Amino acid sequence: MNSNSSITKKPLRAIDALAEAQKIAFAPFIFQTTVSLRNLGVFNLIFDKRSKGGVTIEELSTALSLSTYGLGVLLEIAESAGIVLKNEAEKYELTKTGYFLNYNKTVDVNINFTQDVCYKGLFYLEEAIRTGKPAGLKEFGDWNTIYDGLSQLDPEVQRSWFEFDHHYSDEIFEHALERAFASNPSSLYDVGGNTGKFAMQCCAYNKDVKITIFDLPGQLKKALTNVADAGYGERVNGVPIDWLAPNPQMVSGADVIWMSQFLDCFSEEEIVKILSVCVQAMDATTELFIIETFTDRQQFDNAKFVLEATSLYFTALANGNSKMYSSTVFLRLIEKAGLKVMEDTALGDFHTMLVCKKQ
Ligand SMILES: C[S@@+](CC[C@H](N)C(=O)[O-])C[C@H]1O[C@@H](n2cnc3c(N)ncnc32)[C@H](O)[C@@H]1O
Repeated sequence: MNSNSSITKKPLRAIDALAEAQKIAFAPFIFQTTVSLRNLGVFNLIFDKRSKGGVTIEELSTALSLSTYGLGVLLEIAESAGIVLKNEAEKYELTKTGYFLNYNKTVDVNINFTQDVCYKGLFYLEEAIRTGKPAGLKEFGDWNTIYDGLSQLDPEVQRSWFEFDHHYSDEIFEHALERAFASNPSSLYDVGGNTGKFAMQCCAYNKDVKITIFDLPGQLKKALTNVADAGYGERVNGVPIDWLAPNPQMVSGADVIWMSQFLDCFSEEEIVKILSVCVQAMDATTELFIIETFTDRQQFDNAKFVLEATSLYFTALANGNSKMYSSTVFLRLIEKAGLKVMEDTALGDFHTMLVCKKQ
């Protein structure tokens, strides 16, 4: 990736800049080529033959029952895009980039999310910017936000959506549990509890805690079914809520209010509204946890790039008005809502955990 910083540090030669521009002009072609080569099993076969010095197009054709024409058009552009290389024996090998495209778990999750959830809807990005609405969502259904329809999406789309969501939160749940239970809470509200994954982990971690999941009705129903199936039905209940409705309410009584990757589903104004409702339900000891991946807290350029792409998913498909935020924005909104940040810590390589109390 050529970031602006590398442009300022070392200007590209015009010929290289033009090549970059052409790569962007045809980026969807390279992306779809990648998906095809992966799904058709070409990447796997090339990799499996690495100890034999690679594989010829004819061998690929025979093994995969695909025409040399079809394989040829895909492999030609894949070679120019630096995904495969053809060695002196005219055999194909994966480059390092090709290897990551096929075998890196995070890249795989991102490819599936791009292909199954975002690809068609991104066509309407410009319309989404003009109207402030998730114009690409019409590819899936007639909802105001993708969250209203999450539980009704096609299974394949759902699988890629949840895989993406879970990939970026599962790991940090483990790390966060110890801190969330440091005050020995007897009641925890999981706001945006989604599939009930965190609620179930809480129940496994602490034998007494009672969890209340807050989510949209369709999603909540699924979460409660998952929780009941796992045998935790007695300790987990749910409150159906739409935070975008005029007057959302939260009853008091929670020792911990938990929001993981939830507030980024809302605009700045909406975030202040949600947090203000929570403040009304908090007393002086209630701890409110916010877990987010902030754009300005990323150690690696490529993590920041993934977050910036995720913002466009929110714009074109999810709701038209939210994004992955920087921590400076969040700290301002938290204060505005009547909260103070007691702890601000890194969680794993990408996440930040803010522990807040009422001002
Ligand atoms: C990105 S998911 C986060 C899931 C989970 N907390 C995690 O860390 O993986 C956002 C959740 O917020 C819920 N949500 C989005 N918009 C909502 C709204 N308007 N009212 C209530 N819940 C909403 C979604 O249904 C979803 O479960």
